[in-house]
Amino acid sequence: MDTNTAGLAGVVAGQSAIATVGHAGSGLNYRGYSIDDLAEQASFDEVAYLLHYGHLPTQTELDAYTKRLVSLRTLPPVLKTVLKLIPKDTHPMDVLRTGCSMLGTLEPEHDFSQQYDIADRLLALFPGMMCYWYAWHYQGKELNELTDEPTVGGHFLTLLHGRKPTEIERNMMNVSLILYAEHEFNASTFAARVTAATLADFYSAITSAIGTLRGPLHGGANEAAMELLEQFESPDEAESKLMTMLANKAKIMGFGHRVYKDCDPRSDIIKHWSKELSQVKNDKRLYEVSERVEAVMRREKKLFPNLDFYSASAYHYCDIPTPLFTPIFVMSRITGWSAHVFEQRADNRLIRPSSEYTGPAPRAFLPIDRRG
Ligand code: COA
Repeated sequence: MDTNTAGLAGVVAGQSAIATVGHAGSGLNYRGYSIDDLAEQASFDEVAYLLHYGHLPTQTELDAYTKRLVSLRTLPPVLKTVLKLIPKDTHPMDVLRTGCSMLGTLEPEHDFSQQYDIADRLLALFPGMMCYWYAWHYQGKELNELTDEPTVGGHFLTLLHGRKPTEIERNMMNVSLILYAEHEFNASTFAARVTAATLADFYSAITSAIGTLRGPLHGGANEAAMELLEQFESPDEAESKLMTMLANKAKIMGFGHRVYKDCDPRSDIIKHWSKELSQVKNDKRLYEVSERVEAVMRREKKLFPNLDFYSASAYHYCDIPTPLFTPIFVMSRITGWSAHVFEQRADNRLIRPSSEYTGPAPRAFLPIDRRG
């Protein structure tokens, strides 16, 4: 195969009006708005609305949208039963994948006119779905999945901790969800579009996407980054162990990117929140270790941190268990996936590329008694 197209690197696989990634080496825009402006000034609900409907909501539209999402948080009783049956040692991403698929049997999509409602339902439901399973198995309780927190991030943290988040925790989650919401033709979004392009139902497309996001080369990198950082007691220890890992040609999770060449524009934004949290929580070790890892990776490999790297410490400072890191990505990216399914369906053609054949030349079939 032409190595230039291995992994479809650099291949334009379709048109999209949702986001631009890495134009001129860096930069990220959702529907023309820069990620810096959105992270600084918008709420995640506003961004979800923007991605789904193509324009920023007015205050009246936003209030109605938030109210609607809050009203869609109740888990169907049968789904609760299924969540309880999913074993305790299951990876939380598999819980969401299964929960999404199960919801597709309870509230199926009969025709595509339901797609916006299903997108909203999944957006509203994923935090409760995740925390209900987690509480049942790890906190020994049956969770009430409803809270009076209007924001998705605040709702998730309240469900997880059984207390209201602090202002900085709520704000960090808001920004984090905005940063993770959309990223053009990344692997999981592409998987969703491939599934949608067969005219399969909405839940099948999202289930494909969740399965694709799970891997450590994609969404799973934030968990893998945390597991790396946890091994180091101090910045000096991080540096010496990292040098050994690099000498052994290890891949360091949370670094590098397929599209960005100079930097990931989301990284500095979440890094700022990680630093703020380290100060507020009076626990600088993890942040300082992270900074040293970043410095060594820049010096030794000329690689920059991607969004997943400082998300790990930011989440850790909010007492979020590491296995729930990638599920937070799902709670956010459901907005981008949904926007792409809408877009794919609006101008659909089956996605079915070709491969370059590298197998044997045509040959005669031998009956079994004449073989080898
Ligand atoms: N640690 C160490 N080396 C890395 C690296 C990392 N995180 N990311 C890339 N490299 C090196 C590769 O080893 C390779 O070196 P080589 O040419 O000497 O073999 C080179 O940089 C190109 O990497 P490659 O994996 O071919 O790039 P890609 O475009 O196929 O992959 C990623 C992009 C994101 C999958 C890759 O950078 C990676 O695996 N990063 C870690 C996982 C991660 O953080 N994923 C989240 C992405 S948002």
